[in-house]
Amino acid sequence: MTNATSRSFPSNFLFGAATAAFQIEGAAHEDGRRDSIWDAFCRVPGAVINGDNGDVACDHYHRYAGDVALMKDMGLQTYRFSTSWSRVRPDGGAVNAQGVDFYKRLVDELLGADILPWLTLYHWDLPQALQEQGGWANRDTAEKFTEYALSMHDALGDRVNVWTTLNEPWCSSFLSYTAGLHAPGHYSVEEGVLAAHHLMLGHGQAVQELRARDESLQLGITLNLTVADPVDPTDPADVDAARRIDGQFNRWFLDPIFRGEYPADVVEDIRKVDAAAIDAWEAAVRPGDLDVISTRLDTMGVNYYHGEFVGGHVPADPPRAGDAPTDRPGRSPFPSHDGIHWHERGLPRTPMNWEVQPEGLTRLLTHVWDEYAKPAGTVLYVTENGAAYDDERVVEDGRVRVHDDERADFVRAHLAAILDAVDAGADVRGYFYWSLLDNFEWAWGYEKRFGIVRVDYDTQERTVKDSGLEYSRIIGSRALEP
Ligand code: NOJ
Repeated sequence: MTNATSRSFPSNFLFGAATAAFQIEGAAHEDGRRDSIWDAFCRVPGAVINGDNGDVACDHYHRYAGDVALMKDMGLQTYRFSTSWSRVRPDGGAVNAQGVDFYKRLVDELLGADILPWLTLYHWDLPQALQEQGGWANRDTAEKFTEYALSMHDALGDRVNVWTTLNEPWCSSFLSYTAGLHAPGHYSVEEGVLAAHHLMLGHGQAVQELRARDESLQLGITLNLTVADPVDPTDPADVDAARRIDGQFNRWFLDPIFRGEYPADVVEDIRKVDAAAIDAWEAAVRPGDLDVISTRLDTMGVNYYHGEFVGGHVPADPPRAGDAPTDRPGRSPFPSHDGIHWHERGLPRTPMNWEVQPEGLTRLLTHVWDEYAKPAGTVLYVTENGAAYDDERVVEDGRVRVHDDERADFVRAHLAAILDAVDAGADVRGYFYWSLLDNFEWAWGYEKRFGIVRVDYDTQERTVKDSGLEYSRIIGSRALEP
């Protein structure tokens, strides 16, 4: 979006960057940490590109102080990170003081640098010991999650005010238990719907317990939401494809969390594909669960990467699918994907094969604000947005540089899209670029680089990319220049 004049951000708008424990920490076997489901999944042949794993990652566990210094140099106001459940409660049970201490050190370092710590409790790394008892398909995991949340509050409640329960529960349910593409790599519709319910139940319980302890905490959840456009808005099959995408990504989570009900049309979509799965799910949703799940939130985190251009007919020239990096068998991440086809609309694409569609973010934020957040008295944050590009490392005058102009453009375009949503009335209070560092991109291993800081995995050298310098300038002026 081009504008003749510079556009300022509201004074309450926070600029940050995000990471997640498994993707950056490394130190997978140190100080009492035990396996998470991702450690185990990385050992499954073919599950992760190049057989990559999280053993060392960005070695952030040892280099956190330098990483916080980099954030400070860049002028970040806030840092969104996650805590590793299998570091803190290695078997899902007893607390490991050494693991907790790492997060005390990290938070103290952030506070010392005047950076607001934004803590996410669950970014996909369930202790393997809990998976062996059924993982998120087992209702008991929601209880265990609440206990874990409270132990983090015991340790950090005096220093951390902003808490996100879950990151992208769509991924930790359907992509993980139904599509088989993420840990634990199962292929079950029933486990997918049960996992989604138990994740949201754990979220609601944790929010209630944390709120009971301290009214002043800022509590919320982060969802991966999308905008689905039908290829032909006058074709009923295309419109229905868009409805089902909106149903499974957005409404399956937003409706229970904000309205205390599941979307009836999506329940019927799934029943058509796997009636036994819906029977099991209906038995698992107990009276009172939806009241817990719809506990009021202070913040709602939106992760936005791209939209979906879908139809009900097979395209003549289909775009390459973007979500399955290895030849491990996959299945649709959600039953109602059956009969949905992705189409090409000529937008630029990143090496993830994701469309660059900033305008979708404006529509998404406006919609979520009007329909869900505003009526609930909840404010919005973009808790993730970013792009992988095939960055080149160059040495100029003896200095390492990364000229990633496409990423800088991506950031500017999405920040402008947020300002458009703010102008349209949405109360959006911040933006976290994903990610601070190049890191372990799940099934894609280290092949895809999302960072505004480059990580050389041989030496662990960090280099602020040109996009990071540009982001830093934007933060400094709190405005987008024309
Ligand atoms: C969303 C996830 O939260 C994050 O872990 C992941 O790396 C990014 N998307 C990019 O795929």
